[in-house]
Amino acid sequence: MSVATESGTYTAPAIRQTGILIGDEWRPAVSGKTFSTINPATEEVICEVAEGDAEDVDLAVHAARSAFESGPWSKMDARDRGRLLLKLADLMEENLDELAALETLDNGKPISDARAADLPLAIDCLRYYAGWADKVHGDTIPVRGDYFCYTRREPVGVCGQIIPWNFPILMVAWKWGPALATGNTIVMKPAEQTPLTCLRLGELALEAGFPPGVINIVPGFGPTAGAALVNHRLVDKIAFTGSTETGQLIMREAAATMKRITLELGGKSPNIVFADADLEAAIAGAEFGLFFNQGQCCCAGSRLFVEDAIHEEFVERVVARARQRVLGNPFDGETTQGPQVDKTQFEKIMGYIESGQQEGAQCVVGGHRRGNRGFYVEPTVFTNVSDSMKIAQEEIFGPVMSILKFSDVEEVIKRGNETTFGLAAAVWTSDVKKAHRVAHSLRAGTVWVNCYDVFDAAAPFGGFKQSGLGRELGEAALANYTEHKTVTMNLG
Ligand code: NAI
Ligand code: MG
Repeated sequence: MSVATESGTYTAPAIRQTGILIGDEWRPAVSGKTFSTINPATEEVICEVAEGDAEDVDLAVHAARSAFESGPWSKMDARDRGRLLLKLADLMEENLDELAALETLDNGKPISDARAADLPLAIDCLRYYAGWADKVHGDTIPVRGDYFCYTRREPVGVCGQIIPWNFPILMVAWKWGPALATGNTIVMKPAEQTPLTCLRLGELALEAGFPPGVINIVPGFGPTAGAALVNHRLVDKIAFTGSTETGQLIMREAAATMKRITLELGGKSPNIVFADADLEAAIAGAEFGLFFNQGQCCCAGSRLFVEDAIHEEFVERVVARARQRVLGNPFDGETTQGPQVDKTQFEKIMGYIESGQQEGAQCVVGGHRRGNRGFYVEPTVFTNVSDSMKIAQEEIFGPVMSILKFSDVEEVIKRGNETTFGLAAAVWTSDVKKAHRVAHSLRAGTVWVNCYDVFDAAAPFGGFKQSGLGRELGEAALANYTEHKTVTMNLG
């Protein structure tokens, strides 16, 4: 298959795997069913993928269970687990061109983003956790009496990992890295919109030498394959990234088997620009913080608070930047904004744009679909947004910026926190004291100061309030993938 772009014709990557990975075998679904994965830039079917459901999940869980309990993985030295992660990272680097193209094909994100952000961050994440594999250990504890007491950090067991479509490769890395470093086994369900890169990574993991059953992948839908994983009695933990609604459902369902859960959910992050900020940097940060990845980021700076003294100039300049965004074929190297991932998301976003207009916000740029093929939405900016409007309260997950005006530090802290979410926030100012004061007062898992979307595998990420439970990345994520075991021996 080839894809025409303005800068030439691009040969699309081969589709190597469309099956279910159980152990080291690629299989069709037990039901024989398949589903189509769509190229969001053209709305054409890329290929059919096996549609796993409860029966396939059951097979995958048993494979993961036996790998956890009796396979070579269960006896492997921690350092060798680390080496396998390093090998997988190397294979991803060797196949970077192919993986980035496959990601762009399935998700619609600009190829330049896939190459410069998704892949390097994912590779870095696996290498970071490879380093942890032999450094997670317990303590010796001075208890009363003639006893020797020590703790071990043991893997949780079989981990069900359910990921979304906005950063398919990166979400695989965030989930596999800490789980594998600590000796767990995995059944992963990729998002139905974007299964292809996850399947290819499964193939690379086998090539890297992960023993059969350590990583199993069941593509399929949430209410069938996803729910089966959440309810399976042989699954010890669910790690989920996605909507708050599905996160709430998972939390309720997981109670029946007392599964450990980590949830990384939605956001409505305040991005606060004070009049004393470096304006050029703040405007660039506001654009990037909202429009990056077509606005499909859980941490998007979707409530942009601008101090009244600079409001007019800020709006003018941010609108100019929005106009300069290059919407188009994601395989074109010049493109900075691709299509939204699917029709459902596209329609959801168009609905929010309509709601903003109805509630009296002013749409100063954009507001429409671009073209009639592919799920393209113009970069859109609303001003005159008030806190109670739907576009200021709910996660839009699209290229729609809402600008709110403020005049005072205490006021903006209070308004910034008036949300059910608490994933991220940012503050732009040249006053160090103000920066820290605001950073400490915002109820969010991450606060960026004079920057936005700066991610590092070593820095924990996750939400306060309804943005989630637990932390991913950094040392913090290791806690979610291990159980403490206390061993007490009688020396008397
Ligand atoms: P979703 O939360 O329904 O889907 C995410 C993953 O969960 C997918 O793999 C899906 O198949 C699975 N899932 C869905 N229902 C499930 C169930 N009952 N049991 C187990 N797994 C289930 O999110 P969706 O529908 O793709 O997007 C809806 C909204 O969620 C977006 O518009 C956006 O606001 C938000 N979202 C947030 C993300 C984040 O990074 N925090 C990522 C994706 C979506
Ligand atoms: Mg859903």
